Amino acid sequence: MACALNSLSARLAVQNRTVEAGEMDLLRQLRETWTIAEDHETAAVMDGILADEIQHVRFANQWLHRFAHEPQAVMQMAAALNFAGGVMRALQPQPGERSLDNVELAAVDHAIEVNTEDRHRAGFTQAEIADLVRQGRSSDLKSQSHTES
Ligand SMILES: [Fe+2]
Repeated sequence: MACALNSLSARLAVQNRTVEAGEMDLLRQLRETWTIAEDHETAAVMDGILADEIQHVRFANQWLHRFAHEPQAVMQMAAALNFAGGVMRALQPQPGERSLDNVELAAVDHAIEVNTEDRHRAGFTQAEIADLVRQGRSSDLKSQSHTES
């Protein structure tokens, strides 16, 4: 999806600020899951990847704040997020679709708890984090699809 975006501001908005920020939420959850399973080596790998992603998202947020003063970049970001939201909606499981092990995919709750601490480290504002927590969703794209459907 990110490869279809042809501007730096669009890629930062979708790949880093949205997808990788959502990955931060997932990695925090995975680290806890592996810790509970007493696989501390895998938990440490998740922690290392998480630390890396926090930096990627933080750099993106810093650059996007600069781009926020450039109308063309703002339009590119808006178009990119709209495109990405459409891709996410198209990929959502439809009622009746089942996995190979016969799980009703649309019925599975894929919600991931928002990683508020690391999102703060990555440059999200308290208001942005509060919005995500209130929506109960880890991804800005998911919340777009939620409000538009
Ligand atoms: Fe990354």
